[in-house]
Amino acid sequence: MAKVIKYEFVEELMRKMTLSEKIGQMYQTNYEGSAQTGPAIDTSKTMDLIKEGKLGSILSLYDNDTIKRLQLAAVNTKNKIPLLFCNDIIHGCRTMLPINLAMSTSWNPKLVEESSKMVAYEASHSGVQVTFSPMVNLSRDPRWGRVMESNGEDVYLSKELTKSYIKGYQQGNLKSENSIGACIKHFAAYGAAIGGRDYDGVDMSEGELFNNYLDPYKEAIKCDVAMMMSSFNSYNGIPAVANKYLLDDVLRKKLGFNKVVITDYASVNELRKHKVAKDEKESAYLAIKAKNDIEMASTNYLDSLEELVKCGMVSESEIDEACRRVLNLKYELGLFENPLKNIYSDFPKYWLKDESRAIAKKMADESIVLLENDGVLPLKKEKVSFIGPFVKEKKVVGAWGGKCDYNDTVTIYEALNNKNKKYSYALGSNIFDTSEELISEAINVSKKSSVVILTVGEEQWMSGESHSRALLDLPSSQERLIDEITNLGKKVILIIFAGRPLVLTKYKKMYLEGKISAILYAWYLGTESGNTIVDTLYGVNNPSAKLTMSFPYDVGQIPVYYNHLPSGRPIEDKNNTDYCLRYIDMPLEPLYPFGYGLSYSEVKYGKIELDKDKLFDNSKITVSISITNTSSVKTKEVVEMYIEAMYGVVSRPVRELKGFNKVLLKPGETKKVSFTINKDTLSYYKGSKKVNCYGKYRVYLVSDSSKENFVEIDYSKNTK
Ligand code: BGC
Repeated sequence: MAKVIKYEFVEELMRKMTLSEKIGQMYQTNYEGSAQTGPAIDTSKTMDLIKEGKLGSILSLYDNDTIKRLQLAAVNTKNKIPLLFCNDIIHGCRTMLPINLAMSTSWNPKLVEESSKMVAYEASHSGVQVTFSPMVNLSRDPRWGRVMESNGEDVYLSKELTKSYIKGYQQGNLKSENSIGACIKHFAAYGAAIGGRDYDGVDMSEGELFNNYLDPYKEAIKCDVAMMMSSFNSYNGIPAVANKYLLDDVLRKKLGFNKVVITDYASVNELRKHKVAKDEKESAYLAIKAKNDIEMASTNYLDSLEELVKCGMVSESEIDEACRRVLNLKYELGLFENPLKNIYSDFPKYWLKDESRAIAKKMADESIVLLENDGVLPLKKEKVSFIGPFVKEKKVVGAWGGKCDYNDTVTIYEALNNKNKKYSYALGSNIFDTSEELISEAINVSKKSSVVILTVGEEQWMSGESHSRALLDLPSSQERLIDEITNLGKKVILIIFAGRPLVLTKYKKMYLEGKISAILYAWYLGTESGNTIVDTLYGVNNPSAKLTMSFPYDVGQIPVYYNHLPSGRPIEDKNNTDYCLRYIDMPLEPLYPFGYGLSYSEVKYGKIELDKDKLFDNSKITVSISITNTSSVKTKEVVEMYIEAMYGVVSRPVRELKGFNKVLLKPGETKKVSFTINKDTLSYYKGSKKVNCYGKYRVYLVSDSSKENFVEIDYSKNTK
């Protein structure tokens, strides 16, 4: 394990601290009791704890005056140790970005970094010193409500975006008045909870963990992430928070993380529910032995650690180690020099600046996915009507709304008016219910137009923590509305709002039958939602987003993801599928594959070029392709590079993303896009051991994970 830095300032402070005060640094309380799970401490006790030196940090406190009052009290105590204020600022502080899953569909690391920098600017002036973000749990199961916080199903893409989030938040300088500390979460494998049920257990091989789950954390450590959060789920029988293998052997020793690990909310209490601890004392014991430095929300550390030290079960040096990490972080953040850092009484003046909104708009523009289009989009001069519950809906921010005010959201309705568009409108249905009057009004309005834009979707609270779903369809009142409107013989554009991939098979069928003309997936786009949607409909924005989770054909197909392992009986001959691994009642492929998304342009992919086709341990190959925008509108195209190991020492996924590049193309323009392949590109884990997999590979340069356009290369050890 990498050694923890010893700052003389911190060491000297620690020499003066009592055991109880050190343990106090290891406790984080939830002042307002607003988190979704577990207990909240009685807020009236907070001031007493501060005065006794028994509190190190506070989460989810939103009121600036209270933050200031508590901080001043903390630095007025014997040791003058400032509190640390943490919050879940995940996809925006006040200016709201799209949900994280939507942002990942931008495939634009630079823009994610720029956006996170904007978030850090607002948060660092709003009493936040560390944010519990980014959430990098690999997400292959859209039933899981927390997919909305994730980067989707691919580890490579997630790794690249993790880097951007952390760079944007921390800006390489925790002391800066415009930066905040990042806390990457949750360690580990939380997204693989069985059945997509939040908090459920995970059973996973080491190979799977190392190949598909750990890279974003490794990247975060390289970027000097300030904090890491352990997860709620059990991993191979032991809850992550008490899992020495995960937190000590892998995270501390193998990955070398030497900064603060914080538990998730009251997860130390939950060790009793997981049935691995009989009481508070044992819960505290298991969590400290697994090397969690701060206990969030519950008080097992506070109540039992001193006793555990006194009876010799926990050593004082273990407490010192944890306390040192916490104090080091406060020191690195500059809190000792300036305890009121990030606490401003004029905080609103840093919110919603024009430049911040412009970044949120850019991000929303690159996060809306065009799934189908028969040519109706962009709109021309048709008579249009807007129908459905999301035309005027302000709550299109998604879960974890930071300090947002829904009044800030620009709805579709407001954007249409601001942009002087001519249109008619009817509600048609609320999110969960409708009436004959609403339906017939929607029919009447639609009949008078030639194009109907139908907005439908999940209510924003149907995804997020504790919000898994077993069914991934639309509320029945909205399904009815779609049926009624698509029966009118008009051109219908479906705009879908959701925090996850929904099952869209029915609507794709309607598209193929000509009853629906286009499908736009809007997720929740945040403050600039309406502006992006209207600009996209009218061609001001050319959509460029591509899916980062496969969209299932049916719930029964889940988990369905592009980089699955091959079977011994793949479908090679589509006419003879008798002995192949297959469902008898639906296709094996998802409805929309990973990496898929349309634009208003057409981009032609040329032939792949290789500078050589043999790779050795000490060499590299450059693979390139020319792409041409054959349309008359400028576009952004994501070129995706996948590899397929044709044989090797271990069976590997049918495809693995190993590179991508988003390129701007003017009308008619051709650009050459190149990628480098070396032994690291092709290495793979066998168990927890990284191996060089010599053999034959296909290299694909394509517009989505289902496309065929590849060259072959050989990889061998020979260095001659
Ligand atoms: C969530 C974390 C979050 C924490 C604090 C927990 O319920 O799992 O992601 O950071 O609460 O709000």
